[in-house]
Amino acid sequence: MSSETHAAPLIEAVGLSVSYPVPRAAFWHRKPAPFRAVEDVSFSIGRGETLGIVGESGSGKSTIGRALLGRVPLSSGRAVFHGRDISNLSGGEMRRMRRHIQAVMQDPYASLNPRMRVADIIAEPLLVHGIASGSEAHARVAELLDLVGLPADAGARHPGTFSGGQRQRIGIARALAMEPAFIVADEPVSALDVSVRAQIVNLFRDLQEKLGVSYLFIAHDLAIVRHVSHRIAVVYAGRIVEMSARDDLYATPIHPYTRALLDAVPVPDPLHRRARQTTIRGELGAIPSAGCRFAPRCPLATEQCRREAPPLVAKAPAHLAACWNA
Ligand SMILES: Nc1ncnc2c1ncn2[C@@H]1O[C@H](COP(=O)(O)OP(=O)(O)O)[C@@H](O)[C@H]1O
Ligand SMILES: [Mg+2]
Repeated sequence: MSSETHAAPLIEAVGLSVSYPVPRAAFWHRKPAPFRAVEDVSFSIGRGETLGIVGESGSGKSTIGRALLGRVPLSSGRAVFHGRDISNLSGGEMRRMRRHIQAVMQDPYASLNPRMRVADIIAEPLLVHGIASGSEAHARVAELLDLVGLPADAGARHPGTFSGGQRQRIGIARALAMEPAFIVADEPVSALDVSVRAQIVNLFRDLQEKLGVSYLFIAHDLAIVRHVSHRIAVVYAGRIVEMSARDDLYATPIHPYTRALLDAVPVPDPLHRRARQTTIRGELGAIPSAGCRFAPRCPLATEQCRREAPPLVAKAPAHLAACWNA
């Protein structure tokens, strides 16, 4: 996994921010401020590169993915694909863009229509976009089934007859049908049995090697992204707190939150593990209105942290972190 091949960015997030409206508690109450789910997130992903995004549940990972897919309005910033701003495309332009940017979602049970045959599920995007039909679409489906490691007769069956891992293969085949340059894989193995996770992660890697596709690969723990990512961004409460090449992150984590996440990766010695897990307290709760969002849980927090949000800056070559004290 060399990094030289990823030089030219394929997709970029530039200061992405997304807010969700918060409903009034009652009609006579003042309208609350919107919830800032993602704030000022910037990164770029090269061709054939995987950026892993890690953070606990509710930290804004899916929202970042949705922002790149054009599925949620941005409150500021932009998404750039091949040098082109894709954040405010018209309906028709967005549909054409969808060919190049696809998604694989977490739940392979909910995302496949149980009444459709697998061949029709995979062929649907080809037909919708007028790319292939009839025998051509049929041949393409056969090719895709083979590519994701499903038997040729799978096309005639319905999703309900497959295991979770196989369903995720179907979801991947459907995403690949359009030959996208970029795939947002949003926790694609989190809902699967531990025993099949590695197979699906390896499939993502093999497909990238064969097809040169780029991924934003979302997970809630560092163990899974390690196997697919070239670079990793750690998010906390909607902000990137650390970003670096994969090996740098595991070898020399900088941000106290990353360190805490790494401590939570199971280590063989259970006594050792218990001893190491005391570094982080509490859970993702109310976000402080000023200062570092991690400060309420941070063992290193000082007065400055509660006053002023630390910028994401290089602490070592190509290794960014947002912390005043690390
Ligand atoms: N459609 C929505 N409306 C309001 N709040 C939302 C919506 N989607 C997500 N959120 C909130 O935004 C935050 C980030 O959500 P999400 O991006 O799904 O996080 P993650 O994928 O990391 O679990 C969470 O607090 C979640 O409750
Ligand atoms: Mg999510």
